[in-house]
Amino acid sequence: MKILGIETTCDETACSIVENGKKILSNVIHSQMEHVEYGGVVPALASSLHLKEIDKVAHRALKVSGIGIDDIDAVAVSHGPGLSGAISIGVSFANGVSIATGKKVIYVNHVHAHLYATYMSHDRVDLPCIGVVLSGGHSFIVEIKSFSDYRLFGDCIDDAVGEAFDKVAKMLGLNYPGGPEVEKRAMLGEYLYKFSRCKAPQGKYYFSNSGLKTQVMYAIKEAKKNNYFNDKFKNDICRSFQEVLFKDICIKVSSAINESGIKTVLFGGGVVNSKSLRNYLNYNLNKDVRLLYPKTSLSLDNAAMIAGMAYELKDNDSALNKDIETRIPWK
Ligand code: KG4
Ligand code: ZN
Repeated sequence: MKILGIETTCDETACSIVENGKKILSNVIHSQMEHVEYGGVVPALASSLHLKEIDKVAHRALKVSGIGIDDIDAVAVSHGPGLSGAISIGVSFANGVSIATGKKVIYVNHVHAHLYATYMSHDRVDLPCIGVVLSGGHSFIVEIKSFSDYRLFGDCIDDAVGEAFDKVAKMLGLNYPGGPEVEKRAMLGEYLYKFSRCKAPQGKYYFSNSGLKTQVMYAIKEAKKNNYFNDKFKNDICRSFQEVLFKDICIKVSSAINESGIKTVLFGGGVVNSKSLRNYLNYNLNKDVRLLYPKTSLSLDNAAMIAGMAYELKDNDSALNKDIETRIPWK
């Protein structure tokens, strides 16, 4: 079964053809670099750029895969969470393809698909697994019973992990997206600033990062006031900030492993692109646990994870009729 996947929830316009959930025939991603000069994603600009690119990206995905539009068996689209205007472009496009071809539309949750990206990156993965998403808009830990049945350990009550990276980078005058910039500087820095890990009142699995961001903000104010806001300071701040975040993630994942007894963890979302994070987790988590990451081509926003996951949902009636979702639904 060949599925055309469409992804437009944020600043990537992406289309892909995936056969039977795992075999990627094409994976075309157009990243909207126009947002860089604004230091973050501008929602209205994202929508108009998706509109401009979507049909070109879809044609390219078909061409690379060597099939025609009539050869697809279904259309999959990410219906959220994300920017409502941006999502509408993908959802409308998917429905247009559906009307033209008579093939059904399968709606896929973008953040769940980040976990599927890791699942499809590896040959043999048995469920249940623990799923950890660390992206620009979301951070959460779940038990994945199937790709339509999750049990939530905890999500994020304020800034997502990627968002915290982006905001700290902005305070330091670094480019957007901030994660890779912070990671590069952290490699040159020392762990000098002993920031504290923030605990959310909702419980040990919930992420709360805005307090950490505030600690960084005060350190920057001090540095500016006392004239040491230089490269060495920035590198040390990046290292110290990253260290606390990584420790926090590691403690939460370790508790989920111990409590559930599950021995496979799927990590997904843009932040797990960080080699430093992978090294930290591989070193600090129990060695008898299988830690799985997405392959590079599937780690940032892409449509292969949408087309792949749709294969798992194809017989699930509730995936065939969905509204646009700007927030993640747990119920
Ligand atoms: O999953 P993603 O591509 O988009 C969302 O669904 O949000 O994640 C983007 C996020 C950004 O916040 C970016 O700064 C972060 O992933 N990111 C990183 C790294 N590469 C991307 N964060 C830390 N270290 C990295 N190397
Ligand atoms: Zn994403």
